[in-house]
Amino acid sequence: MLELLKAAKTYIEGKVKTNADTAIILGSGLNHIAENLEDAVFLDYRDIPAFPVSTAPGHKGRLAFGKLSGKDVICMQGRLHYYEGHCKEDIVFPIRLFKELGVKTLIVTNAAGGINENFDVGDIMLITDHINLTGTNPLIGKNLDCFGTRFPDMTYAYAPRLREKAKEAAEQLGIKLREGVYIGVTGPSFETPAEIRAFRVMGADAVGMSTVFEVIAAVHAGIEVLGFSLITNKAAGISGKCLSGEEVNEIGRRSGEKLGKLIETTVGEL
Ligand code: HPA
Repeated sequence: MLELLKAAKTYIEGKVKTNADTAIILGSGLNHIAENLEDAVFLDYRDIPAFPVSTAPGHKGRLAFGKLSGKDVICMQGRLHYYEGHCKEDIVFPIRLFKELGVKTLIVTNAAGGINENFDVGDIMLITDHINLTGTNPLIGKNLDCFGTRFPDMTYAYAPRLREKAKEAAEQLGIKLREGVYIGVTGPSFETPAEIRAFRVMGADAVGMSTVFEVIAAVHAGIEVLGFSLITNKAAGISGKCLSGEEVNEIGRRSGEKLGKLIETTVGEL
């Protein structure tokens, strides 16, 4: 793993100069953030040694290096999902690579189904905490001591300091920002209505098929995390309508602009 990370790092450093403190994982519909970076340089995942390649629809597979609100950032255009068949180590490979490149802050975004019945489609939820319901953990196996401790604390996984900055940015922009707990499942089937009722009792406000592994690996490596969910649909059984992946992607595309502005303003305050 460490040799593979070194190979990827060496390749990137040969292609682009970056002083990025912040990396951003772009969920469905947020590609435009990377396209609007100043002085952008793009590197395809497939050209980066050992970098796993994503196959999900609506997800490109490249890293974008450039400036957002005057700050150097790295964007992941296209993330990796467990349901694609990637192993846990592959999903967190980019996070560890960011650490090697000097990143201190990770902004994660995702599309999610709203479990909280007060949430509307198109809302943005600031993630306050998560429930990892995937049944596994990316840190299982020999601990990589060079990144972090065997038993990392998750009490403040979504850094309160960064959440305050996001709330200030939302207020400045007049964006209504919801807050809540994200529950991460593997997918790829959407949930049953009974699962959604159970998740609500467990304390979840939104559900999605990503994010929890990346956040666990980031916290392990001492990277501060800020997370946003774009509510692309009401979770199964709430509206009585059936769910479709195409609809999730479409809402993501339509509502992604608001989240893009919020991220841009938040990055400016970091
Ligand atoms: N469930 C799981 N993942 C999702 C959903 C959902 O309702 N919407 C967007 N991603």
